[in-house]
Amino acid sequence: MRKMKAMQIQAKGEKMKLVEIPIPQPEMGQVLLRVEACGVCNGDSRTIMGGAPTYPKIPGHEVIGIVEELGDGSTKWNIGDRVGIGYNGGHSHVTGLTMNGGYAEYMVAFEDYLTSIPKEVTSIEAAPLMCAGETTFSAIRNSKARLGDLVAVSGIGGLGHLAIQYAHKAGFRTVAISRGIDKEKLARKLGANHYIDLNKENPAEVLKSLGGAKVILATAPNPKVISSLINGLGTDGELIIVAGSSDPLELTSMDFVRGQRTVRGSFTGQAKEINDTIRFSVLTDVRPMIEVFPLEQASEAYEKMMAAKTRFRAVLNIS
Ligand SMILES: NC(=O)c1ccc[n+]([C@@H]2O[C@H](COP(=O)([O-])OP(=O)(O)OC[C@H]3O[C@@H](n4cnc5c(N)ncnc54)[C@H](OP(=O)(O)O)[C@@H]3O)[C@@H](O)[C@H]2O)c1
Ligand SMILES: [Zn+2]
Repeated sequence: MRKMKAMQIQAKGEKMKLVEIPIPQPEMGQVLLRVEACGVCNGDSRTIMGGAPTYPKIPGHEVIGIVEELGDGSTKWNIGDRVGIGYNGGHSHVTGLTMNGGYAEYMVAFEDYLTSIPKEVTSIEAAPLMCAGETTFSAIRNSKARLGDLVAVSGIGGLGHLAIQYAHKAGFRTVAISRGIDKEKLARKLGANHYIDLNKENPAEVLKSLGGAKVILATAPNPKVISSLINGLGTDGELIIVAGSSDPLELTSMDFVRGQRTVRGSFTGQAKEINDTIRFSVLTDVRPMIEVFPLEQASEAYEKMMAAKTRFRAVLNIS
């Protein structure tokens, strides 16, 4: 029996561990992928912290791989195709949570939820687009913002550094909001027209002075910071939250009434949105900034990401 290396959580509460286990068999409607790269996302913490419904489990939901075997009835892909999958594994599955993910040399995936990866992008660059890229691309393109509108991105991390690029490339006046001045130069290089330093400035006041934002995308997972943004919205503006937190926001009803504002969430990933994300990224030359780790160092990559020290997305280079 052929075996593969994987970084696996063997039981709830246990640490991630390098194991050698049999290569899985694709079932009806599935394919076997030889994994080339897998991004390390904050969403992996659910599996890593004991939140998966069953164990053992292999995390990872930003996966790029090569189709190596077809399950019964699988007709959509050819052997050798390069494909990707995100958080939504299809058929009510979550990749890396309810079914095994991409911290491994091989994984099985439902064929309907895969996206073809264009040749212009490498596997290690494509991986973060499966979740971080898609989440921010979809939130912005499905928003109320239209060409030339003011769009602000709060937090310059894995999601935020892609969101700034998407907002700029999509033709918005783009504002980056971060803590300190360290990231200003980079934010401007990524396409930000304005930069707000949360340590020195009131973001709502600065946004108002720029005319009020049509959209503010909150990627910084801090409810105080998120709450401080709403008054920076212009009339009919939208505050779109992608950073989840269980702590309450501090908003008053007047924050909504004044200017008829909306606050809403946005969640990652339908295959169609991933497909549109990767094609837009190729068209406009949007790429993630990545730190590459071997599979065996998945724990180090995860810890660095959780400490918000990665610039800006950790990716496991698997083959
Ligand atoms: N909705 C979805 O579908 C979806 C998908 C993927 C991820 N997420 C969530 O999105 C969030 C961001 O993910 P990520 O991968 O971008 O994380 P990340 O790389 O750690 O970046 C988050 C950024 O937020 C800012 N930040 C972090 N802690 C903060 C604090 N206590 N106060 C103020 N700012 C803080 C930092 O930016 P600055 O240093 O620039 O201030 C940091 O770089 C996470 O909560 C993740 O779980 C949601
Ligand atoms: Zn994710």
